[in-house]
Formats: sequence, C-alpha cells, structure tokens
Amino acid sequence: MDQNALKRAVARAALDHLQPGELVGVGSGSTVNFFIEELGKVRDRVAGAVSSSERSGRLLREQGIEVLDLNEVLGAGRRIPVYIDGADEINPALQMIKGGGAALTREKIVADACSRFVCIVDQSKWVEVLGGYPLPIEVIPMARELVASRLRAMGARPKPRDGVVTDNGQLILDVAGLRIEDPAALEAEINQWPGVVTVGLFARKAADVALVATAGGVEQRLPARG
Ligand code: 5RP
Repeated sequence: MDQNALKRAVARAALDHLQPGELVGVGSGSTVNFFIEELGKVRDRVAGAVSSSERSGRLLREQGIEVLDLNEVLGAGRRIPVYIDGADEINPALQMIKGGGAALTREKIVADACSRFVCIVDQSKWVEVLGGYPLPIEVIPMARELVASRLRAMGARPKPRDGVVTDNGQLILDVAGLRIEDPAALEAEINQWPGVVTVGLFARKAADVALVATAGGVEQRLPARG
C-alpha cells in the first residue's frame, strides 16, 4: 500500500472517534487533509470544527464544515471532546514531534483545549526514541541566534526553515542531531527560553490514543506505561 493509501485509511478510521453532534478540533498536515475530506462526507455528524491552521480552516470550509473561533467556543462554555491530528514522530508513550507543517503553536493550543487527542499516523512515524526527525521550534525572529546558540551548546544542529513564516508571523528552527530520551523534560526546558514561542514536542500532554496505519490495517495503540 502506498503512503497516501495508508494516510487515507487512518483518516477514515478517525471518524469512529468523533462524538456525534459535538465539535471537533482539527490539526494540520497531509494526513489531516485526508481526514478533512473524509469528514466532509459525514459533515452532519459534527456541530463544527476548531482549526489549528489557516490552511485546515480553508479546507474545512470548502467541505461545508463550519469553523468556529476557539475563544468564542470556550467563552460560550462549549466543550471540544476530541482533537484529531497527525505527527512527524510518535513513540510508545504517544509523545510526539510535530510542526513539520509549521502549525505547531496553534496545534498545541487547540489540542490543549480538547478533551482527547487522537493521533493519526502511518507506521513510518512510529519510533522508539524521538529525535530522528528534526525538532521544529517556533521562534520570534529577533531571538533566532540566541535560541540557536543554546541548541548548538547542547550538541544539536539548528537550521532556520527557508521561506517559512508561521500563521503567527514567526519563524521555524528545525533542530537536527537530538536523541530525545526525556521528551517532557526537554519540552519544559526549551519552552522557557526567551524568544521561543513553542517547541514541537508534545510530551507533557501526549496523545490519548494513536491510530497507526500499517499494511495489515489500522491499529489502535494506547500509551505504554513507562
Ligand atoms: C503540522 C504537523 C503535522 O501533523 C505533521 O507535520 C505530520 O504531517 P503529515 O501528516 O503531512 O505527515 O505537525 O504542523
């Protein structure tokens, strides 16, 4: 099966995790794009969506799905029971590297506002230790070198992502050369550096369930106890 077929299979499987008549939080990326297409076919099942990027918001509207503002949703006391998003890497604890699509900050915000995170990936994203995929960090442009020098001091290799400005007007550093044995500790450490908007480690709040598309079908995996 090619990778797009795996992505579509897992996107379709995610529909079983929607709460009928409720809102859904929607992430970003090519796997989520398939999810949005599948959601469009059953759009009456949900009350609307809260999106994590301008692009996903546009695709949702094209499918006839109402996109609501997060502040208005929370301000009205409404709940968002489920968040569906992909990942660049995911480990057995269901901690993730995200941000390959540069939407990590809004993804972390929307994920935090939702009760349950359902991560949709194909088997190629499953790793024992995070860090093979360069870790994205959203940074305020003025702090680029300050943050990069801290990363180099840790033995990592940060590189600004060419030509990318995030939906929040900031830049992305892609950080290679990290073997992330303690994702939650690294997330907490990098998050408190001045100039860092968001680090693309989703570890302190990991996914609640992973749907993993394999050649043999879509597997549901729960976090391994550490
Ligand atoms: C976007 C993300 C995506 O979830 C991640 O990059 C995976 O994308 P894809 O489904 O295209 O492999 O974090 O910021």
